[in-house]
Amino acid sequence: MTVPVRPADDPAALDAAAEILAGGGLVAVPTETVYGLAADATNGRAVARIFEAKGRPRFNPLIAHVDSIARAERLVDLGRLGHALADAFWPGPLTVVAKRRAGSDISDLSAAGLDTLAVRWPDAPAMTALIGRLDRPIAAPSANPSGAVSPTTAAHVAAGLGDRVDLILDGGPCRVGLESTIVAIDEEKATLLRAGGVERGRVEAIAGPLATPEAASAPTAPGMLSSHYAPPVPLRLNAQLPHTGESWLAFGSQQPIENIQMFNLSPTGNLAEAAANLFAGLTELGGLGKPIAVSPIPESGLGEAINDRLRRAAAAKG
Ligand code: TXA
Ligand code: MG
Repeated sequence: MTVPVRPADDPAALDAAAEILAGGGLVAVPTETVYGLAADATNGRAVARIFEAKGRPRFNPLIAHVDSIARAERLVDLGRLGHALADAFWPGPLTVVAKRRAGSDISDLSAAGLDTLAVRWPDAPAMTALIGRLDRPIAAPSANPSGAVSPTTAAHVAAGLGDRVDLILDGGPCRVGLESTIVAIDEEKATLLRAGGVERGRVEAIAGPLATPEAASAPTAPGMLSSHYAPPVPLRLNAQLPHTGESWLAFGSQQPIENIQMFNLSPTGNLAEAAANLFAGLTELGGLGKPIAVSPIPESGLGEAINDRLRRAAAAKG
């Protein structure tokens, strides 16, 4: 059976998607970062289906997606700092991890039994429309099998999850292309759990210097195990040029080389463009079955998150 794919901006498709979610089903939904595998976050059985579809370890908690700061506040205590971050970056590619409220109806499985919860208001009309129609938070990890790269197109979702999802909403390629930045708030201290779509500098302008998880008591993100982002072939980072037999993930004004398949993340050296193209590039070159030579990417701005994903992908395959 092939999975139905419908336009993410079609109200009838959104009605159908909301009905599937209300019945405990799974819908792949585009967001500005990557496609999410959505389920009703208050329905433990629906959330269990997410883990099953992804083949994901059960202890890995999920982000609760919301459509307002008020809905986030019903789930967690954002505190002064969480509100400042929400005001600055929501809706957008920032996830805040904060103390979970006792009365919230988030399923324990979704929060993996932790006393904190990750919340995000995405800049994604289909996702927020579904949260509104359902009138509940939506749990959504990236819509890839565990260990594969995050999908940035509907076709990429279908290739990875196939009919383990009930419906795919197609919103075209994701604008940001990297997962959200995750910041944990503990009292008035902020810790960077995952570099992502909002650059560190922009978060630090609001929250002050960010602690690193190693130095902090905040829980680290289990999904940040070094093997998380893995194309099925080895990666060679900071490669000046590809070797014979490698494919080439290039960045900047490199000239093509005969007999070498090149995917250029951004011919003009633009980091936002490179971020948006990263997972598509890894998926396309990974499918060739050859090792990938990766050109150096500057560590500034979004380069921090791009290099983080590349290091994880490289570590996974030694
Ligand atoms: O951009 C994104 O964040 C996408 C879109 C769909 O919103 N979602 C996403 O979810 O990337 P996922 O599950 O693939 O990654 C979320 C990360 C995981 O590494 C998880 O361990 C971490 O967030 N996380 C969730 N709840 C947490 C918590 N309470 N404490 C620490 N880390 C948490
Ligand atoms: Mg993921």
